[in-house]
Amino acid sequence: DETLQIRASLLEWYDENQRDLPWRRICSDEREKRGYAVWVSEVMLQQTRVSTEVNEMWAGLGYYRRARFLLEGAKEVAKGGGCFPETVSDLRKIKGIGEYTAGAIASIAFKKAVPVVDGNVVRVISRLKAISPNPQDAVTVKSFWKLAGQLVDPCRPGDFNQALMELGATLCSLSNPGCAACPISAQCHALSLSRQNESVHVTDY
Ligand code: ADE
Repeated sequence: DETLQIRASLLEWYDENQRDLPWRRICSDEREKRGYAVWVSEVMLQQTRVSTEVNEMWAGLGYYRRARFLLEGAKEVAKGGGCFPETVSDLRKIKGIGEYTAGAIASIAFKKAVPVVDGNVVRVISRLKAISPNPQDAVTVKSFWKLAGQLVDPCRPGDFNQALMELGATLCSLSNPGCAACPISAQCHALSLSRQNESVHVTDY
C-alpha cells in the first residue's frame, strides 16, 4: 500500500543520496557511544529560535547553553548507574531532552520505531498528505507526530527519520520543491492536487 511504497522509495533514495555528515560515520558497536554521538549532534543541529539578525554573541550563548544542558544531562545519565537510556520515555526523564532529541536518539542510536518531527518533517508530511499545518496549534503538532509514527519504517527507523529530514532539507524545500527528482512524488497528495507550492513556513512549532 501507500505507506509501504513511501518507506521503500524514500529509503532507496536516502541510500543513494544522503549527505556525508560526520555523525553518520560514527557507527560504533558500543551502544553508549552511539547514544552520546546522536545526542550531541542532534542538540547542536536543532535550529536556534533566533532571527537571522541576531548577532553572533547571542548565537554563541545559544551554543554555550546547549553545551551546559548536555553536560548536566550526561551527569544525570552517569549518576543513574551508568546505563544509557534507550527508550523515548526513559530519555525524556533527562533534563534537557525533549520529544525531538528523545526520538532521534531512540531511533538513530537504538533502532526504536519512533518518529522524529522537526520543521522540515512537518513540511514534507504536510505536502505528502496535503494538509495545511497551523504551527501555533498544539493539536496539529500532535497530529504530525502521530502521522510520522505511522510512516516510520520499523526495520530502519533511524535511516527513515533521517531520510525524511534530509528530503525536507534538500528537495522538499520551502519554495520551488524539486518534485521531479523526489523519490515519493508518486505518493504526494499536494503534488497530485498541484498544491506543492502552498507550503506553510514552519520553523518553530
Ligand atoms: N537535521 C537534524 N538532524 C538531522 C539528521 N540526523 N539528518 C538529517 N537532517 C537533520
